Amino acid sequence: MDQMRQLVLVGFMGAGKTTVGAQLATKMNTYQRDLDQLIEQRLGETIASYFDRVGEHQFRQFETQILQEYADQSAILSTGGGIVMQTINRQILKQSSAPVVYLRTQPEELLHRLKDDLDRPLLKQMDHAAFIKLWQYREPLYQEVADVTIETDQLTPTQIVSEIINQL
Ligand code: S3P
Repeated sequence: MDQMRQLVLVGFMGAGKTTVGAQLATKMNTYQRDLDQLIEQRLGETIASYFDRVGEHQFRQFETQILQEYADQSAILSTGGGIVMQTINRQILKQSSAPVVYLRTQPEELLHRLKDDLDRPLLKQMDHAAFIKLWQYREPLYQEVADVTIETDQLTPTQIVSEIINQL
């Protein structure tokens, strides 16, 4: 397990990237960096408020900047669900020496998990049909960057962690 010090987690919002990343970090005796948290720290503002103020386009540019800084750092990096939307981000992820793990969760399960979530700006703008459409749009983009895909619907975070360790 010692060689596996770096890893990037991708997946749709609600897939469990931050929770799994934290558990994985403990198990691998390393630390997790959460891209959304890094963005918020740098901005001194929540993503929801930044999103409302400047819009998605500017948020994406800032997200790329932070990804560029941290993609090759020696740690577990959890990313925001929209990280694969930008071609440049996909290139950064593919070029990174860190294996990219896609936590794949079906949209119905995600909708169930996120139904009371008020913090995610994109959710506020979407009905169920739009959510599923976005999931379908992003799905091949996650696959494009992923070295490993884990189907997470039936698994607890602890089981997902074991599965990741088994597969890498
Ligand atoms: C987004 C997901 C969020 C956050 C931002 C945009 C998206 O991260 O980066 O609100 O486009 O799916 P999580 O996947 O951690 O919710």
